[in-house]
Amino acid sequence: MIHLTINGKAIEAPDGVTILEAARLYNIGIPSLCHLKDIHPYGSCRICVVEVEGMKNLAASCIVKAKEGMVVHTHSSKVRAARKVLYELLLSDHPKDCLNCTRNQNCELQELGYTLGVTESRLSGEMSPAKVDVSPSITRDTSKCVLCRRCVTVCNRIQEVGAIGAQNRGFATVVSPAMGLPLDSTACAMCGQCTVVCPTGALTETDGLSKVWAALENPVKRVVVQVAPAVRAALGEEFGLPAGTLVTGKMASALHEIGFDDVFDTDFAADLTIIEEGTELLGRLSAALTGGEAALPMLTSCSPGWIKHIEHKYPAQLGHLSSCKSPHTMLGALVKSFYAEKIGRKPEEMFVVSVMPCTAKKYEIQRPEMGQNGIPDVDAVLTTRELARMIKASGIDFLNLPEGGFDRPLGLSTGAADIFGVTGGVMEAALRTVYELVTGRELPFDGLHVTPIVGLEQVKTASLTIEGALPDFAHLEGVTVRIAVTSGLAGADILMDQIAAGKSPYHFVEVMGCPGGCINGGGQPRPKEEGCREKRAAALYREDEGKPMRKSHENPDITALYEEYLGAANGHLAHELLHTHYVPRGLYNQLVR
Ligand code: FES
Repeated sequence: MIHLTINGKAIEAPDGVTILEAARLYNIGIPSLCHLKDIHPYGSCRICVVEVEGMKNLAASCIVKAKEGMVVHTHSSKVRAARKVLYELLLSDHPKDCLNCTRNQNCELQELGYTLGVTESRLSGEMSPAKVDVSPSITRDTSKCVLCRRCVTVCNRIQEVGAIGAQNRGFATVVSPAMGLPLDSTACAMCGQCTVVCPTGALTETDGLSKVWAALENPVKRVVVQVAPAVRAALGEEFGLPAGTLVTGKMASALHEIGFDDVFDTDFAADLTIIEEGTELLGRLSAALTGGEAALPMLTSCSPGWIKHIEHKYPAQLGHLSSCKSPHTMLGALVKSFYAEKIGRKPEEMFVVSVMPCTAKKYEIQRPEMGQNGIPDVDAVLTTRELARMIKASGIDFLNLPEGGFDRPLGLSTGAADIFGVTGGVMEAALRTVYELVTGRELPFDGLHVTPIVGLEQVKTASLTIEGALPDFAHLEGVTVRIAVTSGLAGADILMDQIAAGKSPYHFVEVMGCPGGCINGGGQPRPKEEGCREKRAAALYREDEGKPMRKSHENPDITALYEEYLGAANGHLAHELLHTHYVPRGLYNQLVR
């Protein structure tokens, strides 16, 4: 421990921390902009400068280490004056269109101006040229970039994709894909993690709201909405509720109030995914054990960012992916077939909106594979943040809404579906069903949770030996099934490199594209408190534990769907509607505009 003085207060802090970290231990606020706790100590904006006695220049507190005996002043007149000038310099090259910016009232730069007490902009001069790059998922507006490079760190160091970086020098510096290419011509996974950390409106999700408002006003359209599991554990944060507050009922009520004709639950399709994917896994395991051909490990395919990543980086390994579509596109396909037939409407009259924690799903719905006869399975994707804006724009008093529910026949779900939103959840949900189908007994883990794969570590592994297999699965008796779970694309690369080298010991691997899974997706609210991911994950496990049914195969509406419409799991119609194929891609797409 070291001892220093900040603003006259004696401070004790662990050796090695920065001045900013030491101050925050004692709730002494120092404004910052480019800094991102534990991830990005970059020191580019200098907003966090403080005065250290004996030092000639002001010190950037986010990168200068606290030292024994230091005497620091965080808000002296010299410091406050310097911060104001630094802020005004940033502002001198920033558009003044806050009123019509999507980050209005939710912008760190704007908030900083208020905190610093900047009431005028005294500096003006040449402005950086604006370049707006609209990809299916992410919109980049370089004029709003403050060059903090948080996005660069997240893309290069956390996700290890490396789609963007700082280009050029000096005043011409711009954060961009190489050679100024548009984002959708690169290997960007469209995960949207950059939009979560961007402090301004430079990186945002591409608008999905305009299409949805237009559909709601079109009398010909039957507008159906569905909501992914992770949304219910985070939407409340946009209305001031603490992270981890479940708002499932209020969210369903809000969607009915907005005017959607049917409010379905992507959880239903998560249960369906388990039946389809579990059947596929059993098929591959059985084939491999009886001398047949089967690509193992089988890889989960729910996360479109992960799918785009493997298509770019490991095109030779696409055969390992499950052929299951992601749950929301499965549900979209059912709305435009099974449900449209049921209510006497044509597929083209149905308009499906998916509310997702994810930006990559905006890209996914444009894939030609995700539809039937030229009609897309899903017509629009809104992020959790966009849904919050829609609720506010509708004048709905969200916090005082009654607890509503989802509509049938595509709205009933089990607890297994809820945990699809957190890393390890798809694997656990699959094991709950597959183990019981094979042995006739429940998964032998306390509370049905496969403990070794619960948690937010980058790679988690477990194994499970099948004992007492039912006669139909006698060939699996004594087999030890080895599984691995990872979230974030850097973790995926670790497991993929093993597979590509022919050294993977696993049978089944779950990959979610965002670190921590969908709870931390690129379309989720920007975290305002510590431990946000953990709190959202705990909320989904609570939702699971509170449900009367916790295994996908127990969902009676899924059973009815197979009996009434689909026929057998992995059967002909199920394949036509619920399964897909993948496209090998290079590091750059051919489409270069
Ligand atoms: Fe310290 Fe930007 S926050 S330099």
